[in-house]
Amino acid sequence: MASTTVIWVVAFLNFASAQQLSPEHSGTINGVCRSIFCNKIEKLPQLSDCVVILGNLHILLMEQAHKDDFRNMSFPKLKEVSGYVVFYRVNGLESLGQLFPNLSIIRGKEVVYDYALIIFDMPDLKEVGLYSLMRIYRGGVIVWTVPQICYVHTINWKVIAPQARHVLASSEGAMHCNSVCSCTTDVATNHCWNIKKCQRYLEGPDKEKCNDVCLGCRNVNPNLCTNCRYRTYRDKCLTKCPVNTLVVSDIGYCVTEPECRYLAGWKFKNSCVFNCTAGYKAVMGPNGYRCMPCNRCEETCGNLTLHTLAQLQEASRCVKVNGTLIIHVRFLPDVMTELKRYLGQIEEVSDYVVIYGMPTVTSLEFLPSLRLISGRILRNKTYSLLVYDMISLQSLFTENVTKKLIISNGTMLFNSNPMLCSSELEKIKHLFPKVPGPADVPPGANGYSGGCTKASVGLHVTVINETSIAVNFTHVANPDAHYAILYMRLPQGSRKIFVPETCSDNDWYAYNIPNEIHNNSVVKLTELLQPASSYALCVEKYDPLKKILARSGIVNFSTPVGKPEPPFILELVASSSEVVVLRWVDHKVYRPHITRYEIDVTLVEIYPQDVMARDHCKETERYEEIDIFRHAVVMRPPPDYDRGCESMCGILSTVTAGAMVEEYFDVCSSIELGCNNVEAPPPTNTSFGKFLRTLSLNIKGPRNDFQVGGLAPFRDYRFRLRACSGNQCSRSARGVVRTLRADYADMPTIVYASANEYGFISIKWDPPEITNGPVLSYTVQVSPSVKIDDRSQLIPQLWCQAGHKTYMIVKSVKVDRYIVRVCATTLASRNVCSKNVKVTVFTNVSWWAGIIFGIVLFTITAIATCFWKKQRDISYDLPLLSNIVATGVSEPPSSMISDFIQLYSIPIRDTELD
Ligand SMILES: *[C@@H]1O[C@H](CO)[C@@H](O)[C@H](O)[C@H]1NC(C)=O
Ligand SMILES: *[C@@H]1O[C@H](CO)[C@@H](O)[C@H](O)[C@H]1NC(C)=O
Ligand SMILES: *[C@@H]1O[C@H](CO)[C@@H](O)[C@H](O)[C@H]1NC(C)=O
Ligand SMILES: *[C@@H]1O[C@H](CO)[C@@H](O)[C@H](O)[C@H]1NC(C)=O
Ligand SMILES: *[C@@H]1O[C@H](CO)[C@@H](O)[C@H](O)[C@H]1NC(C)=O
Ligand SMILES: *[C@@H]1O[C@H](CO)[C@@H](O)[C@H](O)[C@H]1NC(C)=O
Ligand SMILES: *[C@@H]1O[C@H](CO)[C@@H](O)[C@H](O)[C@H]1NC(C)=O
Repeated sequence: MASTTVIWVVAFLNFASAQQLSPEHSGTINGVCRSIFCNKIEKLPQLSDCVVILGNLHILLMEQAHKDDFRNMSFPKLKEVSGYVVFYRVNGLESLGQLFPNLSIIRGKEVVYDYALIIFDMPDLKEVGLYSLMRIYRGGVIVWTVPQICYVHTINWKVIAPQARHVLASSEGAMHCNSVCSCTTDVATNHCWNIKKCQRYLEGPDKEKCNDVCLGCRNVNPNLCTNCRYRTYRDKCLTKCPVNTLVVSDIGYCVTEPECRYLAGWKFKNSCVFNCTAGYKAVMGPNGYRCMPCNRCEETCGNLTLHTLAQLQEASRCVKVNGTLIIHVRFLPDVMTELKRYLGQIEEVSDYVVIYGMPTVTSLEFLPSLRLISGRILRNKTYSLLVYDMISLQSLFTENVTKKLIISNGTMLFNSNPMLCSSELEKIKHLFPKVPGPADVPPGANGYSGGCTKASVGLHVTVINETSIAVNFTHVANPDAHYAILYMRLPQGSRKIFVPETCSDNDWYAYNIPNEIHNNSVVKLTELLQPASSYALCVEKYDPLKKILARSGIVNFSTPVGKPEPPFILELVASSSEVVVLRWVDHKVYRPHITRYEIDVTLVEIYPQDVMARDHCKETERYEEIDIFRHAVVMRPPPDYDRGCESMCGILSTVTAGAMVEEYFDVCSSIELGCNNVEAPPPTNTSFGKFLRTLSLNIKGPRNDFQVGGLAPFRDYRFRLRACSGNQCSRSARGVVRTLRADYADMPTIVYASANEYGFISIKWDPPEITNGPVLSYTVQVSPSVKIDDRSQLIPQLWCQAGHKTYMIVKSVKVDRYIVRVCATTLASRNVCSKNVKVTVFTNVSWWAGIIFGIVLFTITAIATCFWKKQRDISYDLPLLSNIVATGVSEPPSSMISDFIQLYSIPIRDTELD
């Protein structure tokens, strides 16, 4: 106990001095960094000057990294991140605290799936260890798929991230875990990050008592702030920024104007901003951007002429249009949705409205707020609403709009709208002060619904790769004509030919052929298509002068499959002590093309030093209820995947029924990572004893489940599953699961036992052939045997021995005979015992026999082992006490001999004293 206290004090002092805000920050930005993305060890040093990250911190995808790579890596300067922090698939990293000993605040201005601290799929991580972390202001914590982790539940996450979700892996059973805190005697605050580092508090009884400007400090000096509560300027905590500095409001740091510009921000009032607030807009000036006030600038716009998506987006703030509104957004996939999204606010137009030439638009309902067209200026002094060349237009404004719309001047023009029936026109005619005449709505110019003339263009499609094609066609040089390629992804399995005129606006995409390409007849559609899909395509020609629209015939083609999307593992379930069952679903697009799967199985190693790190004789193991989540992982698939039958069908194990259904969480697809090409290669096939250590399988598709046998009992195995089409395989879907406990395992075998007249008994045993994980400890049970029927004498004496040793010499009372057995404790079972062995004391032994006994013990052992095995009849079944009574392991006696040196020194002295 005393020694731990010393360590504590030392740790505190060291830490306190390291905690001092270091005076020198190199670089011109005073420790403020923008988002950091590290997917290689070599990229980590870019963090070395960062005190605060304005953005997010990504440490991920270092599967080839090794423990040694992190040996001298530490970034003690980093204290704060304004966005989220993600650690994902970094091998070799054992503690995050080693990298970021002083990271104390995560603000979570940006989060991933509502999480601000993401620790996911970290194979070697043994502790979170972010021992300075005090607060996550927004977003939750996920610590998942971390088979080696300890000290997860010793942290009070509720204090760090209040009112947020905490998804924490179970740390029970990581062999070296001894997750016990000895910080205070108060159970409520006795929380720690590891054996040395206690949790720090900003509130509550154990809060750090600091100067008011501090957010956390070391108790040794209340003025030595860990972070600042209000403002930070040049490593000092202040209540407001000094004159001539600007505050970066997301982090409360004060910077000078040049520093602000270095961070790609600009000055606005007394802040360094990256965006302008409402009522202001960013204007590029000689010194970069400025926020300029504008009177109702979001609301009233000038003339709006909309041709492109960018123009649409720009118009999204407009409520009133002081001028004309001209809409001609021709080549935009899903144009109806985009129009609705960006023009939904427009209420008033002071001049006139023109809508024309949008082949896929079927109605004018994208102007749901339109109330007034004033007609202050009219087109050709006549028209306030003009709609023409809308080949799919079938209906006009919504009923609500038509009811309330006021048009104060002029009349309407409707022309060349083949699908628009005159009944629709009747609905709005009465709104205009001037009744339209035959010149304005020519008879037969609307609603004639005639088919299109076919353009003969000799269309030919060449598929380049999964997402790109080249379209070949001939066309007449005509500077006024617009060409467009229309294409549509056919539903899977469909053989139907679609006619463009009958399609709704959602189905066909239009690709505008730029004018300069007109003399070249090959057009490339690059990265626009989806892999493994069938398409229909045609070419459209529009002549605005003659108002002729023509389309070619339809060509069908399919894109290659390429690299498939990974399968999704629905269930990863241990069905017995040696079998794990996988069930998965495929990505819908790729399902018909998957020909085989690759499965990798890797044992999660448990190193002897991890087992020995803890004295399993001193601490009674905690045996909890069976932890179902370690033996069964059940997930719901995301939308792009086939539906699995919800966890109740195809139940493969009794544990599945109770297993938690996890929400889908995929780091790769939620952050733009480029997860491809960074995987560790498949393992070779290896085994230990009769069990599997690593395995790589290639199985034929189509199929959606597989079971892997030959696994060791009660051990964690890591699975990777890839779907392959031809030679190309997806990236891996992953999971870790633990096999169930084996009932027949954990029984040691006594190979040698002898006793002398002084009451010393030496016992040697073989470890159990099969174990449920490593042996943590052995218990040697000795009953001095008086008479077999005298049960009261049979309370055994117990001694504990570490799990890596297989012999022991103990001192019992002096009797003639003993009954001895050895019991093993593993992670899954305690005190599974060998058979009882009867030991009879040597007769005719004088005092020096003790010496010989000690000296020759080990020489004898080998011989005796063989000899003994022939004499197994010595053992007999005697009803010793049940395991339950035997659980109170007695203190090891002072004469316990567990080392070879002591082995023969202690008996001699004992003999002499006797
Ligand atoms: C500024 O605002 C835009 C649009 O709202 C957003 O996309 C961008 O991320 C913002 N930039 C910063 C630095 O917050
Ligand atoms: C809108 O365009 C017309 C000409 O078409 C012009 O007379 C008017 O000044 C413009 N209005 C604005 C606000 O720019
Ligand atoms: C509308 O634009 C005209 C110029 O075209 C301008 O004179 C007038 O003040 C503007 N009205 C509003 C309300 O902005
Ligand atoms: C109606 O439009 C005409 C022609 O542009 C214009 O002279 C007249 O002032 C407008 N009337 C109103 C009330 O805006
Ligand atoms: C407007 O008038 C011009 C010439 O007066 C004519 O060429 C044009 O077609 C007219 N526009 C409309 C939409 O009627
Ligand atoms: C039309 O207006 C009424 C009342 O303002 C509202 O309840 C209804 O949802 C509106 N209909 C549409 C299609 O917007
Ligand atoms: C497909 O080809 C295009 C054009 O050659 C190229 O830009 C693109 O990167 C390729 N895509 C893939 C997935 O290979």
